[in-house]
Amino acid sequence: MILITGATGKTGTHLAKQLAASGRKVRALVRTADKASALSAAGVSIAAGNGDSPTDVAAALKGVSSAVLIYPNAEHQLALEKLFVDQAVAAGVKHIVKLSSPEALEHMKNPVHQTHYRSEQYIKKSGLAWTMVRPNFFMQNFLGNAATIKSEGKFYLPMGDGRAAMTDTRDAAAVIAQVLTTPGHEGKSYDITGPAVLSFADVAGIFSKVLGKPVTYVNQDAAAYKEFLGKYLKSSWHNDAVCDIFREIREGYFMPTTNTFQELMGREPISFEQFVRDYQAAFS
Ligand SMILES: NC(=O)c1ccc[n+]([C@@H]2O[C@H](COP(=O)([O-])OP(=O)(O)OC[C@H]3O[C@@H](n4cnc5c(N)ncnc54)[C@H](OP(=O)(O)O)[C@@H]3O)[C@@H](O)[C@H]2O)c1
Repeated sequence: MILITGATGKTGTHLAKQLAASGRKVRALVRTADKASALSAAGVSIAAGNGDSPTDVAAALKGVSSAVLIYPNAEHQLALEKLFVDQAVAAGVKHIVKLSSPEALEHMKNPVHQTHYRSEQYIKKSGLAWTMVRPNFFMQNFLGNAATIKSEGKFYLPMGDGRAAMTDTRDAAAVIAQVLTTPGHEGKSYDITGPAVLSFADVAGIFSKVLGKPVTYVNQDAAAYKEFLGKYLKSSWHNDAVCDIFREIREGYFMPTTNTFQELMGREPISFEQFVRDYQAAFS
């Protein structure tokens, strides 16, 4: 049995459905029953519960041999992940796969990067066999800009001329599925990127081409954007952390593309063009 947390999210949904479709026994830890119905329909069994409850997590881990750890960015993410690892050890789980980030490095001081770095260290010391899957900036982040792309042909971000090797979450899910279903991935960290490093102007060009209408990237003043984002994010911790990642990108930090995806999967990663084609209904 494979247990997946975050299975209603951008990566976990694809992973849970792919594994269930290939005949694997998959269980998802899900907080809200209404979000679980699509997973149930795909053959995923549901463990209702919250990752902050040791009792819920212990119940979800019964009979589990491999576990996939996916939690969203939050101040308590590290605590949730440590709780999960402790319960996985107690339950006799053999292998844990963590959705992490290529910036999970000791010297990267952003709180999101530090959370991933410290969680990885905790897992590595737990005694569990582990694999870290570390995708770069998600293409699916642009679903948060779909409303203005649809209504105005514009998207608003404070990235300046920054760039990122954008990665489709379906590829991150495919790598995790590969790690779980083929041998030899224990003790490995996989930094996954899409096929190209793209600026946000490049992205606008691809949206324009695929959607057949002009789409413009409108660069935002960093402080004004942070105030705007503060209306939507649940905590100032999250707003500070996300805006600091945007600053890193704006100031020129980017990860070069890697060949890791091709080496593992034997195919090219999904391009941004393909991402827009596949999610066209959300953007037009
Ligand atoms: N965005 C990027 O560009 C990027 C790039 C690389 C790595 N990452 C990493 O990817 C991770 C997030 O993955 P994602 O974007 O696929 O996930 P996501 O779409 O944010 O979904 C997160 C899931 O976690 C569930 N969840 C939240 N709190 C929970 C709790 N207390 N107990 C049980 N379930 C809980 C949510 O369920 P509910 O429906 O109940 O809320 C949701 O299904 C983060 O750690 C992030 O750092 C992101």
